[in-house]
Amino acid sequence: MSASVVLITGALTGIGRATALAFARDRAHIVVSGRNEAAGQALVDELSALGAEAAFQRADVTREAEVEALVAFTLSRFGRLDVAVNNAGTEGRPAPLADDSEANYRATFDTNVLGTLLCLKHELKAMTQQASGSIINLSSIVGQVGMAGAGVYTASKHAVEGLTKSAALEVAPLGIRVNAVAPGPILTPMLNRFTGGSEEAKAGLFGMIPAQRGGSPDEIAETILFLASTKSPYLTGQIIAVDGAYTAQ
Ligand SMILES: NC(=O)c1ccc[n+]([C@@H]2O[C@H](COP(=O)([O-])OP(=O)(O)OC[C@H]3O[C@@H](n4cnc5c(N)ncnc54)[C@H](OP(=O)(O)O)[C@@H]3O)[C@@H](O)[C@H]2O)c1
Repeated sequence: MSASVVLITGALTGIGRATALAFARDRAHIVVSGRNEAAGQALVDELSALGAEAAFQRADVTREAEVEALVAFTLSRFGRLDVAVNNAGTEGRPAPLADDSEANYRATFDTNVLGTLLCLKHELKAMTQQASGSIINLSSIVGQVGMAGAGVYTASKHAVEGLTKSAALEVAPLGIRVNAVAPGPILTPMLNRFTGGSEEAKAGLFGMIPAQRGGSPDEIAETILFLASTKSPYLTGQIIAVDGAYTAQ
């Protein structure tokens, strides 16, 4: 079988980067996207060294023209789009709701919800032409439960899950699959920002997880690869929690 063509947003750090490296080890053809040209080119070099064909395309997921151009670039470079990982996201400025702001709402929802919507829109257009494809969105444990002090981020991830299920229903008859992965706390730059970089705050967060630890970006990447693969052909419209049993409580 020929190599899969994979598009990853927010691919230059954290979970997105680990996912790009995992697909590269599978010899996929990969378009990595983000907002930093130099980091993008450096990642392309790393992916190429692993034997993948890779390219970088700059895109801010809140801008429809850039998302449309990103999908068009993928199609012109590799001829099709088999897998899309809508990973770009922001925690915004987590705060108690009584202290929250319109600006935080707009910035968080623009990236996490509008960004996911715009990616789905243009990816699904491409995949509908092919009548095949697998899309994986990034939710969170707070896509399913509430979190004091992070209400806006929590609401944005609930919305990502609504988009995921609705998209899956729209395209299931075409053989296109749409799922989301919902990670617990994962050791990435976002977690560092979320905890202010404090080891004590991280330990406190991990102590709330039944597995008594945080997850690694590689553990999320492996789940994404499974959802992207031919090993999960009947799995669609689902939110897969990878959270050390947090949401089993
Ligand atoms: N780490 C966790 O504990 C955790 C848990 C649950 C869910 N998640 C989700 O997992 C995903 C990846 O997060 P991460 O933990 O790997 O954090 P991260 O390292 O901060 O990755 C987020 C990536 O998204 C990019 N991004 C942000 N806004 C963007 C925009 N408007 N357009 C394009 N790219 C944009 C960032 O690029 P810049 O550097 O340019 O900002 C960054 O590369 C996110 O959706 C996050 O909500 C993370």
